[in-house]
Amino acid sequence: MNESQLEIALSGLPLGPLRFFATIGSTNEQALRWVEAGAPHLALLVAGEQTAGRGRAGRRWYTPPDSALAFSLVLRGQVLRIASGDLGRLAALGALAVCEALRQEYGLPVEIKWPNDVLATRRKLAGVLAEASWRGEQLTAIVLGIGVNVTAGSLPPEEHRAFPATSVELVLERRVDRLKLLRAILEAILGWLPRVNTNDFIQAWQEQLAFLGEPVRLIHAGNSLLEGQVAGLTSEGFLRLQTSSGEMVTVPFGEIQLRPGEQSPA
Ligand code: BTN
Repeated sequence: MNESQLEIALSGLPLGPLRFFATIGSTNEQALRWVEAGAPHLALLVAGEQTAGRGRAGRRWYTPPDSALAFSLVLRGQVLRIASGDLGRLAALGALAVCEALRQEYGLPVEIKWPNDVLATRRKLAGVLAEASWRGEQLTAIVLGIGVNVTAGSLPPEEHRAFPATSVELVLERRVDRLKLLRAILEAILGWLPRVNTNDFIQAWQEQLAFLGEPVRLIHAGNSLLEGQVAGLTSEGFLRLQTSSGEMVTVPFGEIQLRPGEQSPA
């Protein structure tokens, strides 16, 4: 992948300016700097390799050279009229777009592990990190960072996996054109962006939800918080969990991780 291939692959999409980096620390970090310097709505940064990629909950995200997709899209607060409370929903927009692109382009059966991890064969193949930029009290932009494991070589080392991992090519058992996949993901993002605050969006997100009706555990800071069955999403995109006592609990966005629970004996 290089800048001119990228420009050709994304031609005709209504995006802002494009910056390509063969190697960079983190596209999200760079995007937040560009926001400070005036990056416009839908400015896009793409990297061939990240040496300090950021994951959720302060974890590292691996992007070895030319093996994955790693990109960040600038969403300007004034254009979208977004607030910090929309961060969770916009991160889910990234996950939903990855799912739709993989289903449409490759027929890949994918799911979203709430809130925004993309799974195939119950292993993680993509992650999303949405970060806000502020000027005083005012949210100026959200940077939507997306990482997709494309080749087998893009998987993080075993000891750094918080959840089992896989890649698009491992599941499909064939080569995938990363530029074509990037275009399909961006098209899906652009398609949903004007409707991200609608019930249709929540419905589409819920339809991709992994572990629906299955037992799960919620973990916070390494400790088990709660166990129950996934019952769906609220109208805000919060998780609805039914506990064993029959109580319906609502879980807001936060540094929470979801894990499969114990299957009850048949
Ligand atoms: C997660 O932990 O699941 C979120 C991973 C997000 C990774 C992407 S790769 C492009 C962008 N730049 C970063 O540094 N992180 C995000």
